[in-house]
Order: sequence, then C-alpha cells, then structure tokens
Amino acid sequence: MNDAPETLRPGDIVQLTDPKGRHHTLVLEVGRVFHTHKGALAHDDMIGRSEGIVVTSTGGTSYVVLRSLLEDFVLAMPRGAAVIYPKEAARIVMAAGLRPGSSVMEAGAGSGALTCSLLNAVGPTGKVVSCERRPDFADVARANVARWFQGTPSWWELRVGDLAEVGGEGTFDAMVLDLLDPWEHLTTAAHLVRPGGVLICYVATTTQLSRTAEALRAAGAWTEPRAEESLVRTWHLEGLAVRPDHRMIGHTAFLLITRRLAPGTVLPPRRTRPAKGAYGESSASP
Ligand SMILES: C[S@@+](CC[C@H](N)C(=O)[O-])C[C@H]1O[C@@H](n2cnc3c(N)ncnc32)[C@H](O)[C@@H]1O
Repeated sequence: MNDAPETLRPGDIVQLTDPKGRHHTLVLEVGRVFHTHKGALAHDDMIGRSEGIVVTSTGGTSYVVLRSLLEDFVLAMPRGAAVIYPKEAARIVMAAGLRPGSSVMEAGAGSGALTCSLLNAVGPTGKVVSCERRPDFADVARANVARWFQGTPSWWELRVGDLAEVGGEGTFDAMVLDLLDPWEHLTTAAHLVRPGGVLICYVATTTQLSRTAEALRAAGAWTEPRAEESLVRTWHLEGLAVRPDHRMIGHTAFLLITRRLAPGTVLPPRRTRPAKGAYGESSASP
C-alpha cells in the first residue's frame, strides 16, 4: 500500500461530507459497506486512496472524504456523559500550559473527549491520568480514546473510582476538574498539583462558578482564580451575503483557572473591595 501520509488505511476515522454539508463519520474496514439513505459506499473504494477525494454512493450522491480532525471526532463520538466541546478543550490545553512531556490529571473522564485533547497535547513523553467513578462511562472513554489513537496510548492511565479515593498524591503540572462539585475536591487537587501547576475547573452554571471561586479563595492553596467563557460565532459566506450564522452554541460552560501556591505561602490581602452586597445583604465582605 502507498505509504504517503494522505493515503487512507484500515482503522482511519474518516468524515464524509455530502453536498448539503451533512457529515457521516466511519472507521475504515476492509470489505465493509457503509449505508446511507442515499445508497451504499464500499470502504474499499476509499482504502488505499488519498484523503480529499470524492466518492459516489450507489444512489448517486457524492461525498468528500477526509480523515476526521479531533474536533470532528469529538462531536461525532459515542457519548456517555456530556463532552467538553472543542472550543473549551483548546482553551484548556493553552491555559493549562500543556506541551509535550507535561503531566495532567483529569476528573471525570466522562466520554473521553477532553482526554483525547490532553493526550494529544502532552504526547508519548507526557502523562495523562483520568479518573472516572462510573464504570460504564469509563468504558465509553476507553473505547473513544482507543478509537482515536487506534489503540490505548501508553502515556494514559484510567483510574475507575471516585477522585477522592483513587486520586492519591502527585506532582502534576495541571489538573482539570469536570464534575458537578469541584469545590468538594480542592483538597485532593492540592495534593496532586505541584506548586506553580494549573488547576482548571469546568463548570456549567454561575452558581457552581461562584461556589468554586469562593472555595478556592478559602482553601488558601491557590492564586486568585480567574473566570472566562469562550464564544465561537460561525459565519455564513455566500457572495455578498456575508454575516454571522443565525444559530450558535450560546452556552457550554465557564472555565475557572488558578495556580497552586507553594506549601505555606499566604497570599497578600486582595486590594480590590467587593461590590456592596457581593456576599449577601448583611455584609460587604465574607
Ligand atoms: C461531564 S462528564 C465529563 C466529560 C469529559 N470531560 C469529556 O470531555 O468527555 C463528568 C464526569 O465526572 C464523573 N464524576 C463525577 N464526580 C466524580 C468523582 N467524584 N470522581 C470521579 N468521577 C466523577 C461523572 O461520572 C461523569 O462521567
């Protein structure tokens, strides 16, 4: 078989795009046939050929064939729990300072979507440890990661159990908490993240955001947290009709980002004055 990087091989995850822009995702297998409601497509018509070709189904519909990018795969992957979307996964990799060789812990693993981004970022010289308390979700994460990497990456460890029990201790460069109650796991996180390491809490609601931020301040082991959200607006491009699309993903979650202080370090008091009522009607500060 042709060794060029663009040559499609068995095991490759490919995305087929029809003339209306609709996608199908499949894993190429010798001898298999993919059935759409516009007819059948033989995998063998793609295997051994180049990415970027067009194939035609028995019903006469044409499809552009490209290997899925991780963001395509994440949106198409089988889900147990809700996934972290590519727009936040990209921010997490950057905000956590991940690079080849970094070590990162995450909880929970859920469907393994973020796990794939973390594994990609740190590479075989790094380490990703994922905790997931639900064995059924751990199975989904395991299968998705194995599908994306065409096998289980040697630099990945999946611990099935509650973070509080299986987390243990460590010197991770970064940790990501994507679970309902991150404020309950800050002591565990403090035992896992090295001084200077980054903790990112992914939370869906403002109440979780507020509670986690206050718990981080109260814990004293972390720098002043900062919060952000990412909005991605896609655009319609048609001649002179160039404008934002009418629909967008309006909300996914907030990221709360902080860094581990050295043991024993006490932050100087904050110089900003809380807004009147920030901590309730009766007091101006906690
Ligand atoms: C929203 S999902 C995570 C999705 C994942 N980040 C992804 O991108 O696919 C949250 C997961 O956290 C797990 N979880 C919740 N509390 C946990 C805990 N204390 N320890 C380990 N896992 C936990 C849940 O079972 C669930 O699978």
